[in-house]
Amino acid sequence: MTFGSRFSLIGLLITLFIASVHAFEALVVYDAAVSNLEKDVSLLNPEISKFLESNSLSAEFKTYTDETLELFFAGQKKYNHLILLPSSKKAMAKKSFNQHLLLDFISEEGNILVVGGSKSVLPEDIRSVLNEIGIYPSPKGYELIDYFNQESDKGVSGVQLKKENFVAPKVLPFKSSLGSYTGGAALISNNENILPLVRASSTSFSAPIEESDITITQDKTWTLGKQGFAAVGVQALNNARLAWVGSESLVDEELLKWNFKAKGVLKLQFTQHHKHDEPQFANNNTLYRIMDQVIYTVGVSELKEGKWTTYEVKDEDDQLQLSFKMLDPYQRLNLEPLGPASSSEEDSELDTFVYFTNFTLPDHHGMFTFELDYKRSGLSYLLDKRIVAVRHLANDEYKRSWEITNAWVYIASAAAVVLTWFLFVINFIYVGNIDYSKKNI
Ligand SMILES: *[C@@H]1O[C@H](CO)[C@@H](O)[C@H](O)[C@H]1NC(C)=O
Ligand SMILES: *[C@@H]1O[C@H](CO)[C@@H](O)[C@H](O)[C@H]1NC(C)=O
Repeated sequence: MTFGSRFSLIGLLITLFIASVHAFEALVVYDAAVSNLEKDVSLLNPEISKFLESNSLSAEFKTYTDETLELFFAGQKKYNHLILLPSSKKAMAKKSFNQHLLLDFISEEGNILVVGGSKSVLPEDIRSVLNEIGIYPSPKGYELIDYFNQESDKGVSGVQLKKENFVAPKVLPFKSSLGSYTGGAALISNNENILPLVRASSTSFSAPIEESDITITQDKTWTLGKQGFAAVGVQALNNARLAWVGSESLVDEELLKWNFKAKGVLKLQFTQHHKHDEPQFANNNTLYRIMDQVIYTVGVSELKEGKWTTYEVKDEDDQLQLSFKMLDPYQRLNLEPLGPASSSEEDSELDTFVYFTNFTLPDHHGMFTFELDYKRSGLSYLLDKRIVAVRHLANDEYKRSWEITNAWVYIASAAAVVLTWFLFVINFIYVGNIDYSKKNI
């Protein structure tokens, strides 16, 4: 056996080993003191188990203090999805499961669902990750209270959430079967990637429920009115998704679908640009001339029920836009719908929707970028940049002088000078005959 082949054999073994550690799609981390999933898996939130089952996602279950709790193996993330259930202690297996690794997990496009609760705590490192992102969940014992929207016989506990509290119905729709909400509330920062899902009403506040006399004071309340959120989503710039819910009762099929990228996922199938009269160069044109008429085309698909389908923009606010920019956008144009198309040549299934724009390049040469930057809340982000050179006119491409109307004045005056000179010469030689011989005498 040569060294080379031995080396490739080791490589193959390592690849197989890495493939084998990828056996589970999702990791569910729980606290045995809250819900002992090890003894009884049916204690898992029914929405979560239903979702894992219907999407045939295999899940591994580990407790927060399990020393074998690991997100990465040999630098590769072991799971695509992470579900963090409520815990009774702040402690967790810190070595292989801490704030930095959780952030790395997000950087590697891993999705996280954090389930909170008013009677449970968040392990310190998970709280730090949420804080870093800009979500500040209330501490243990704090509950969302709303004396104007509650079931009358339940004391202070339980808020009746209404349809208007669900501010992102595409991600987390209102369900009439949802009972009263007993859980925490979070403050959020102005991070643009945060997507509020359930906003508390203006008459609500969150305060420690245990104390018999709840007088609202500044240091006893965590949120006041519409500051508070019972569920928050986040989509990182790499499209990794994280959701925090203040109580298990808000875990919903639609939210899980969004959180674990089974919906609201867009894909850019193709991007093309070409001069309007040279469609044969649609895939490889990198050189344009100023003032060219250019056609830019994209095909966008959306994931629905596990299949790519056409993504049709219905709302004016959701329009796709092209920026033609050099440092700053010189042009920013809405793309117009063209119709459904097929993304691959072999397949005739219409799985993508085509948008285009037809525009004139600016009168400016340099390196320009065709940039499609599409960020709409609840949908995965699209970003596409194509750099092209825009050259100025070549020597022989300028207009001839007589095509320029301004020049007509000068052309006419030059012609007039020539003509008058001729007239003068003719006049001088032939017109009038002064008798010089007589004059000189
Ligand atoms: C671009 O593609 C067209 C058609 O495929 C081909 O004729 C042309 O030579 C290509 N141009 C360059 C610069 O590669
Ligand atoms: C793009 O615009 C130019 C100028 O208005 C026009 O001549 C051309 O036909 C248009 N092309 C398409 C595909 O709309």
